[in-house]
Amino acid sequence: MKSNGSRMSLAPVSIPTVSVPNHTEWPALSAEKESELKEKIKDLLKDINGVLVAHYYTDGKLQDLAEETGGCVADSLEMARFGTEHPASTLVVAGVKFMGETSKILNNEKRVLMPDLGATCSLDEGCPADEFSRFCDQYPDHTVVVYANTSAEVKARSDWVVTSGIALPIIKHLASRGEKIVWAPDRHLGNYVQRETGAEMVFWPGSCVVHEEFRSVALGRLRKLHPEAAVLVHPESPQSVIEQADVVGSTTALINAVVSREETSFIVATDKGIFNKMRKLAPGKTLMEAPTEGEGATCHSCARCPWMGMNSLQNLLITLQEGRNEIHVSKKLAKRARIPIQRMLDFASRMQS
Ligand code: 13P
Ligand code: SF4
Repeated sequence: MKSNGSRMSLAPVSIPTVSVPNHTEWPALSAEKESELKEKIKDLLKDINGVLVAHYYTDGKLQDLAEETGGCVADSLEMARFGTEHPASTLVVAGVKFMGETSKILNNEKRVLMPDLGATCSLDEGCPADEFSRFCDQYPDHTVVVYANTSAEVKARSDWVVTSGIALPIIKHLASRGEKIVWAPDRHLGNYVQRETGAEMVFWPGSCVVHEEFRSVALGRLRKLHPEAAVLVHPESPQSVIEQADVVGSTTALINAVVSREETSFIVATDKGIFNKMRKLAPGKTLMEAPTEGEGATCHSCARCPWMGMNSLQNLLITLQEGRNEIHVSKKLAKRARIPIQRMLDFASRMQS
């Protein structure tokens, strides 16, 4: 939303320190136990008229189950779209909180459940609504564009919501209309979009703790060892990593690249949960993880989002059995936050037609 106040001297932004949970894998399940849990979940989804919508970074077992039960596995743009088009009365979102909130904002009449409401995102946590609103107030003549990885309140303060899958064409479109842009919260994605479009932008200084750990020097070494491999990079990564990419794009774009490109090996700089789908769609191809550790350093998340990792078959079953972990967004807030999200979805439909 554009503010009306006049330009004041710019105050520095202070963003909170995000506390990152230690990622611990869920205990392994025997094949027998896994199929027992899956059968129970399938029955419960039918009983409650629910559909499972999972992100590519979640555990492969959840991704497979979503597909087996008529749900979807997708990037954050498609997850939002899918929920609006599916007739189920309960959307069960395996991913992180902003994804559940976006589903609720777009489908206020539906129930939205998540396996763990504590599954957030460093971008969302690093962009508190009050502080962000004060930041926007300093640029009253700018259009406010926020990444989907934000809270409902931050979305409500914006003119446009974008995901990594559609950020470039939307910013290109806004720049062609001469609009100046406040961008939040991911500075790496924002800088990438600015380099590609030449748009006039100011940035909120947020980052993704997972993608920020990819190391450019180590990536350069790996590329020398595998000159035949194409390098695929999610644009939340630092510029020095993006500059080495053959493909920069959303999770869906990176998966499509593995399927359609002629190379048979790939170095992938994004959360390794994505390998589940890549292996299924392109079983003959070789996939390598981009390095997350510099010389002697230790990685924090090792290309595994600690919040996405909170989703499992075990807590999904409990969620469905107890109807717990429901996402609530007030009608008033949803009404305001829906405007910039719908703008993005309408833009996406126009692009497709
Ligand atoms: P995508 O929209 O590309 O799936 O990205 C979401 C995300 O959180 C990446 O870290
Ligand atoms: Fe957020 Fe990064 Fe996790 Fe994506 S990978 S949900 S941007 S912390």
